[in-house]
Order: sequence, then structure tokens, then C-alpha cells
Amino acid sequence: MTLASMHQRALGLARYRSEFPIFRDRVYLNTCSLGPLGERSRRKVAEFLDIWQSRGASAWYDVWWEALDELRGRYGRVINAARGDIALAPSISVALSAVAESLDYTQRPKVVITSLDFPTVAYQWLAKALPRGRGGAGVELVVVESPDKISVPVEAIERAVDERTALVVTSHVYFTTGAIQDIARVAAAAHARGALCLIDAYQSVGQIPVDVQATGVDALVAGGLKWLLGGPGIVFLYVRQSVARRLEPRISGWFGQREQFAFDPRGLTFHDDARRFEMGTPSLAAVYAQLGGLEYIEEIGVPAIRVTTAALTEDLIATLRAAGFKPKVAAEPERRSAIVMIPMPDPAASVRHLAAGGIVADSRPGHVRFSPFFYNVQDDHVRATERLASQPAH
Ligand SMILES: Cc1ncc(COP(=O)(O)O)c(C=O)c1O
Repeated sequence: MTLASMHQRALGLARYRSEFPIFRDRVYLNTCSLGPLGERSRRKVAEFLDIWQSRGASAWYDVWWEALDELRGRYGRVINAARGDIALAPSISVALSAVAESLDYTQRPKVVITSLDFPTVAYQWLAKALPRGRGGAGVELVVVESPDKISVPVEAIERAVDERTALVVTSHVYFTTGAIQDIARVAAAAHARGALCLIDAYQSVGQIPVDVQATGVDALVAGGLKWLLGGPGIVFLYVRQSVARRLEPRISGWFGQREQFAFDPRGLTFHDDARRFEMGTPSLAAVYAQLGGLEYIEEIGVPAIRVTTAALTEDLIATLRAAGFKPKVAAEPERRSAIVMIPMPDPAASVRHLAAGGIVADSRPGHVRFSPFFYNVQDDHVRATERLASQPAH
């Protein structure tokens, strides 16, 4: 018995696999792209549809309003934040723009990111690069390079931050390589120069423990699509309250207003916490799907999920290496998360070949990407590796 299956057995995780029907006829190794649909999310969405059908708008009087508040609270608990420090948003890009729009770049035009961050991070600030007076905000985007294309040395980020830096943004887990960044040090580097720190934790929350208090980050985005098993259309923005109060949203909507139901068009009454960054009516179907997905995460607990997925990740790497592949992952196992990239000459063709064999993975430039989660088993790795090795051009 492998370490991974020992952990799974000890934690009783194998029983969850049957709640994800995709495993009946496929090997699913793509949670880092889209978490599979679990029965609990399906049931919650069915509950939403029943309520919509039977009660219509009267459901806003109680259950729907409560569902939004419940979700803020439960998102908050996953990252050790208070309910009020959580704003709901429809996508990471929207959540990032809410923050990007609220900063003043006059004295501090620099925004520091890294070359391994998901590009939507860069786009928020590249869109503000035009000089003031020509429709832009004069933002200078600084991209810290990754020497090994696996991770970014935190020292390089530290060196890039100075007194002209408004914000440091990077990922907790890099989306291509799964390497884990030391976000407490990133936050400290930003704060040492008077800058703020925003973390894209879309690839970490749910699969590895995240504690916004312990790490001291000012803001953090994550959401349902991947490791929180909630599907598309629902994410959250955490902002530390002392920071939120200082930031004036410049894109806004009625959900961001304390006096939302005064329907007064004459003035703004921003919430005095992260909710000031909310805009319009959230997608309730997505909210319900996420409430169902969170049940798995909360029931098992992220620390237990991390123990199992870390063991699964090591097993996957070992299985691939034994078959002659050279997975590109962080050198130190403790810096690895459950995303494993394998260099392949034609990754799109490999993904098609895997799919034809019932294995769901995806590709990024030059690589095939596998990502196991608590419902995967060692046999998934064996089957995926054998299928990859059976590709004619391999
Ligand atoms: C780390 C990370 N950030 C952001 C995104 C994109 O988020 P959105 O499409 O919600 O803007 C992705 C993509 O899936 C991602 O992996």
C-alpha cells in the first residue's frame, strides 16, 4: 500500500469518490482547471431551482439573502477571515479590477507581479499603463522573472519592491507548475516599502491551508472553479478591514452600498469593509453550487486534504518518472502542490490521446498538466501514465 492510499484509508476519503460520477467512466486529473461536479453541488443547484420555481422573488426575503451571507461566512472560515472581510464576485478578473480601480497610482505608479502569474493578473494593470491624461493611470508594470520557469525566488520579488510601488501581486500556487510561494514573505516585502500585497490564491484555497491573518496579506482572491469544487461564476475577494476602509471603489454597484435598499441615487454609502467591492446581483445558481462543493472541503478539512494530495502528488511524480517522463515540479517536495506538469512535444495531441482513453487532463504551452485531488487514487496515476506513454509519437 502506498503512502497516498494509506492516508486516504486513514482519513476515510475513498468514500467520496462515488459522489463524483465522472469517475464512473473517466479518470479525472484536472481539478486545477475545473473541479468535477459532486452530488452535493448538484443537489444544492436543484434546491435553488425548486425555490426559484415555487417562490420566485419572494425567496429574496429570506433564503437567498441568507445564502449569500452564509457563503461569505464559509469562504471566510476557509482562509481564517471574518465574514465582513469577504466580497463576492463573478470572476477573479472582476475581483482584481475592483482592487486595481481603487488604488491611487500618482505617487506610487509601480505594480510588481511575476512571470508565472495567470495573465489576467497582468491585464488589470497593463490596461492602466497609458499615461494620465491619455485615458490611463500611468501604471508601470514590473514583471519579476522566474529563472527556472518553475517558481519565483521571493528574494527577487523583495528586490523589485521600492518606495514607488503601490502593490505587489503574485500567486500562492503558480498555475502551471504548482509551486507554492511564501506569501507571508511577499506581504512582508510589500509592507517594508509601504506597498500593499494582493494574492491570487485561486490555485491554492481548498488544496492547501491558507491563513490570511498569519500571512498578513492585505487582499486575496480565490473561488469555486477549481479546488473549492463550486464550478464557474462565483469567487471571493478578501480585503483586510483596515485596508478596505482606506480604498474608495471606482467601479461600483448597489451591493457595495450600506444603504442598498434606500434606493437613493444622490450619494454613495460604501460598506466599511470588503463588501464595498461588491457590485451587482450574484449568480444564485453558482452560489448554491459552491455551497454544495464547500461541504466536501469543510467536512474533510483542508489540512487533511493537503496531507492526502501531497502524498498523491509524490506518487504521481514517482509513477511518471518510473515511466521515463520528466515532470517539471519544485525541487523541494514541501514547495509542491497538486499540479504536475510534464514536458511533451505536442501537448494538445497528448491531451486528445488521453481523452480518447478516458483520461481528462489539460495542456499549457509545452506541457501536459495533471492535478490529483482527494478523490483520486494511485490507479488513476498508473492509467494516466500508461496512456501518455502509449501515444504513438512518444
Ligand atoms: C491562478 C488563476 N488566476 C486567475 C484565473 C482566471 O480567473 P477568471 O477567469 O475568474 O478571471 C485562473 C484561471 O483559471 C487561474 O488559474
